[in-house]
Amino acid sequence: MQIEKVLAREVLDSRGRPTVEVEVTFGGHTGRSIVPSGASTGQFEAWELRDTADHWYDGTSVRTAVKHVNEILGPAILGLNAADQQSIDQRLIELDGTPNKSRLGANAILGVSLATAYAAAAGQRVRLDQHLHQVWRDVTRTQTSQEAGPPSIPLPMVNMISGGLHAGGNLDFQDFLAIPVGAPTYRVALEWIVRIYRHLGKLLNQAGFEGTLVGDEGGYGPKVTSPHAAAEFVVRAIEAAGLQPGSDVCLGLDVASTHFYENGVYHLVAGGQELNSAQMVDLLEDLVSKYPIISIEDGIADADWDGWRLLTDRLRTKVQLIGDDLFVTNHVRLQEGIKQDVANSVLVKVNQIGTISETMQTIRLALDNDYWPVISARSGETEDATIADLAVATGAGQIKIGSVARSERLAKYNQLLRLEEYLGDHGNYQGGKIFEHRLQRDA
Ligand code: PGA
Ligand code: ZN
Repeated sequence: MQIEKVLAREVLDSRGRPTVEVEVTFGGHTGRSIVPSGASTGQFEAWELRDTADHWYDGTSVRTAVKHVNEILGPAILGLNAADQQSIDQRLIELDGTPNKSRLGANAILGVSLATAYAAAAGQRVRLDQHLHQVWRDVTRTQTSQEAGPPSIPLPMVNMISGGLHAGGNLDFQDFLAIPVGAPTYRVALEWIVRIYRHLGKLLNQAGFEGTLVGDEGGYGPKVTSPHAAAEFVVRAIEAAGLQPGSDVCLGLDVASTHFYENGVYHLVAGGQELNSAQMVDLLEDLVSKYPIISIEDGIADADWDGWRLLTDRLRTKVQLIGDDLFVTNHVRLQEGIKQDVANSVLVKVNQIGTISETMQTIRLALDNDYWPVISARSGETEDATIADLAVATGAGQIKIGSVARSERLAKYNQLLRLEEYLGDHGNYQGGKIFEHRLQRDA
């Protein structure tokens, strides 16, 4: 399986922004993958290389990243074994040589890393999830004495209402999500979610809000200004779908608070409030007391470690507290979080770190320290569904893809439907059971 050819090109993502696509070829097998891109990015993420001074696509072009694949990264991995993902990723990391992949671009490096996995799967005549599970076992063996768990279909947490940088400045919080904890299988979970989403659109329209147009991740973007009102709409939509809020379906939030935090103050523009860290934690605790919220992502900003400690002290037994901008899928930052005992969960985005191996290292570190990993898409996505296979291969337990609208989202939900069928036995789906014994919610 010696790599014979590596080819990159510029294609477009779901926002019509340029991104990197890479093809890796050997022995008549080609693997192809496209790199995603965020909007509410964390300051500690790996570097996305864009040609800001270039007129092509108004300064958003990735032509230099493409060139780096074609002229530097590609030639350097010719002849290497495509199935040896860890060695290839190591070579890519060394070629860049910077801590945040800023020399060659994390988008260039990730494109090669992902396409290599597809090529290796094709060469071995196995599915991508099967090959990635093998890589996962290898990573597990190099990192820990624990056994790699079996592949499993993850519990989806699904965006219903969008705000923040993903919609029109309507709401300060970025995502209001539905989590179908009571569904026995993934297929049933997805059917519930689609029903809730349709009812939510109707409820929003009936109340005179926008219940048709959607944000970057397919969630509705109504001009509802308070997080309480948005949560209330999702609860009512769950009931309208004939389901029980709190037992069948819970709520999640991605506050993405880094984006309204400045100099120690949380500026809630739509909500008309300026809060310090303690008041921000009070606001979140109030929401948790009123709605069946079991997951909060980036409730506190990435630079506010004291605020994170307070949030963790107050809510850790009731809520999954996910660090996204806080950890940026980075092994070193997650290790620091574990040491400081903040958060209890980590969001995992492949392009925040830039290779498959490093992504898996972070998932492994999380699992070994009882932090829940949640595999996540970006707000800028494509038809590439790799994260569905990654979530299954690592048995991470949870996935966050966006809403059940827009095909760049459905590409992943549909891939999970296929994998559920291929794996048999409902894809070893644990669903909401993963929260049992961890969260002590009032009934
Ligand atoms: P992003 O949003 O891709 O714009 O960062 C997703 C998230 O914050 O989880
Ligand atoms: Zn986030």
